[in-house]
Amino acid sequence: MERRKLVAGNWKMHGVSADLAEITSISLAAETADIDMALCVPATLIERAVRAAPGFSIGGQDVHGSEKGAHTGCISAAMLLDAGARLTIVGHSERREAQGESDGDVKAKAEAALAAGLSVILCVGESDSVRESGKAVETVTAQLDSSLPGGISDASRFSVAYEPIWAIGTGKVPSTSDIDEMHAALRGRLVAAFGEAGNNVRILYGGSVKASNATEIFGVPDVDGALVGGASLKAADFLPIVDAASGSINR
Ligand code: PGA
Repeated sequence: MERRKLVAGNWKMHGVSADLAEITSISLAAETADIDMALCVPATLIERAVRAAPGFSIGGQDVHGSEKGAHTGCISAAMLLDAGARLTIVGHSERREAQGESDGDVKAKAEAALAAGLSVILCVGESDSVRESGKAVETVTAQLDSSLPGGISDASRFSVAYEPIWAIGTGKVPSTSDIDEMHAALRGRLVAAFGEAGNNVRILYGGSVKASNATEIFGVPDVDGALVGGASLKAADFLPIVDAASGSINR
């Protein structure tokens, strides 16, 4: 099965009503795009984003691993769906670090989201010290192994994002051969965990993706799309990245 490219934006803690026009502009491009697109926005904006961009994939940035309960400040998968979200990010390094989320937490979140019917983008990635020690591949594959949901009934609803922590928001990007090596290793782990379905899971690259480097990154064979932070906030920055992904399939 050919994996359809996915370019998803991660708005992090950015976005209020005044930014809905950008979401609308981005969503209009999706009507004719030959790739999948999504924007993961702050929870407070999900419902309005869905109204501003009917038919477009709006997602959350985190979800709780339980269905409901005494979890002040947290959001369940059913709540995300109720607000109109179709997907959620889990295990972003900013949450793993600042909120102390373990691989086990991330696995529970992925399982809760998938069971509820959401799509999931599960993030993994190494720190700069791990990269410098030469242990990036073994560290990230181990992180994936212990963060993966127990099963996937529909591989098209599950994606992995390889996001080196040192590349996020820094303007630094790994070499294409380092991205290639990591994506191939992650693919091997997905196939080991899920059998043939593991070949249908998309592996996105994330970390300082922008218009100027997108074509090179999408040229790496096992890169199935991107998770984009800073360059997803404005249609003028995001849509050239979408075009680069589209160009990579039509080349
Ligand atoms: P960035 O963020 O594109 O701003 O580097 C990517 C991410 O954290 O998902």
